[in-house]
Amino acid sequence: MTKTVIITGASSGIGKALALEFAKRGYNLGLTARRVDKLKELQTQILALPQAHQSFVELAAMDVKATDTVGPVMDDLIARLGKVDIVVANAGVNQLTGVGKGQLDIELDMVQTNLLGAIATVHAAVAYFRKMGGGHVVGISSLASLTAIPKQAAYCATKAGFSMYLDCAAIELKKYKIDFTKIMPGFVKTDIVDNMEQFPFLVTAEQAAKEIVDQVEKRKSVGVVPGYPWKFIKPLMSSMPAGVWKYIKH
Ligand SMILES: NC(=O)c1ccc[n+]([C@@H]2O[C@H](COP(=O)([O-])OP(=O)(O)OC[C@H]3O[C@@H](n4cnc5c(N)ncnc54)[C@H](OP(=O)(O)O)[C@@H]3O)[C@@H](O)[C@H]2O)c1
Repeated sequence: MTKTVIITGASSGIGKALALEFAKRGYNLGLTARRVDKLKELQTQILALPQAHQSFVELAAMDVKATDTVGPVMDDLIARLGKVDIVVANAGVNQLTGVGKGQLDIELDMVQTNLLGAIATVHAAVAYFRKMGGGHVVGISSLASLTAIPKQAAYCATKAGFSMYLDCAAIELKKYKIDFTKIMPGFVKTDIVDNMEQFPFLVTAEQAAKEIVDQVEKRKSVGVVPGYPWKFIKPLMSSMPAGVWKYIKH
């Protein structure tokens, strides 16, 4: 039976590439973001794919920072889709920031989006999956959750917090047949920050999406993307010397 996936932050970058990759594999899609014009363009692109011409693609305007609206928007989208098997909490923002440099508003915006918005998304998904007797939640965290990076204090904190939330929820919800996949990308070329080219082992959003969907279809509990070389570096990340990061441009 055709599976259905909801993706937050589907208007660009990894979320958009995930939508296209799931569509190529025959999934129905519920796509959300704030920029609905971008979602409409993506819907047209998806429905033109030969593999997706029979897919449903439903759209919803969702601002995950408005946490009290996430559940109702998700419920309405699920009602339009009929049923949902997978929810991907992908929406996120990042910016290089300096601690104590007058950028508290930017840091709090990251917390509101990447942590509180992501938690609200997981909540809404789990509330539905509890009723359905099972489901699959995918959280897009980051390898930045494992290591302290200068000019990324707020971002790393949000991703460490979200990773821990996913890990706790996975244990708590196992008995309800709700699976969790925590995805930890390295560096993926998107618009999330400028100067992405300066970062090592950079991959395209399309490559990242292929690897992420492979991990999701295997129902892996943790996926590192790209797998090579990050899965070999990951065990060392909590003891990375600070000097490694001194070349980040600000
Ligand atoms: N790129 C990387 O190297 C990298 C590495 C590790 C983890 N990640 C994570 O991957 C995820 C996707 O990032 P990306 O690189 O694809 O960035 P991106 O191209 O900037 O895409 C971010 C997406 O999140 C959505 N978004 C942002 N704020 C939102 C809000 N308040 N409500 C709803 N949607 C919102 C944006 O849509 P609208 O603006 O239309 O709302 C957009 O679709 C993020 O969680 C990011 O932290 C990325």
